[in-house]
Amino acid sequence: MKIKRKKFVITIDGPASSGKSTTAKMLAKKLNCIYIDSGSMYRAVALYLKDNSIDLENENALKEVLYEINIEILYKPEKNENAIFLNGKDVSTKIRNSEITNYSSIIAKKKIIRERMVELQRKMAETQSIIMDGRDIGTVVFPDADFKFFLKASIDERAKRRFLEMKDKSASSETESRFSRVWRMDNISLGKIKKDLKWRDRTDSNREISPLKMANDAIEIDTTNLTIEEQTQKILDILKYEITL
Ligand code: C5P
Repeated sequence: MKIKRKKFVITIDGPASSGKSTTAKMLAKKLNCIYIDSGSMYRAVALYLKDNSIDLENENALKEVLYEINIEILYKPEKNENAIFLNGKDVSTKIRNSEITNYSSIIAKKKIIRERMVELQRKMAETQSIIMDGRDIGTVVFPDADFKFFLKASIDERAKRRFLEMKDKSASSETESRFSRVWRMDNISLGKIKKDLKWRDRTDSNREISPLKMANDAIEIDTTNLTIEEQTQKILDILKYEITL
């Protein structure tokens, strides 16, 4: 499948675990273009700031750091997914733990950090078609995007997805036995995931700069009762007049 336009930008925004990145990934495969999960960039910055104990209130230090950080996103065809490199090191797994997840929402409030991320994100679309997902992609990064989508899902469904995703990831990691024991022992983890998601929803929606919100011209899709295939198909159906098979 190919979009008829020479070069295009598709944005997918929405709250955490609404299915944005998986949908973006599947769509990119169908449409033969790249996808960027912009959240991974904020996560990589969060990891760097945490590992190097950078004080978030020290604007000068932040400014310096932002130009020291090199973020690279490389496509892994064998897995059909992107890997993220921070100063040459693959941090794809490390940036997904809950400490970095929550810290990414805190650092994402900082104007100076957002400005740098937006600059990098816009650069990525200069020479190629792109599908990018995040919180402010349709509103701030690409306000003139060709197609904009906003995915939402109930908090229970999102918590369940995140729970299963984490369980899946931990099962394939070296620490499998330790993690699987915790998962089986109690249900508190699901409650904690829900609490963290609600906190992130609040933090992302209420921040001063580029809060999470739907662009006026975005199409909203509720994914609560949809599978990834169904939600991807829904978007393809909307794009069908723009696509050549
Ligand atoms: O999408 P993901 O959950 O990986 O994003 C991690 C965090 O990065 C979000 O909670 C949000 O605070 C921040 N983020 C953002 N703007 C984006 C993408 C992510 O503020 N475009």
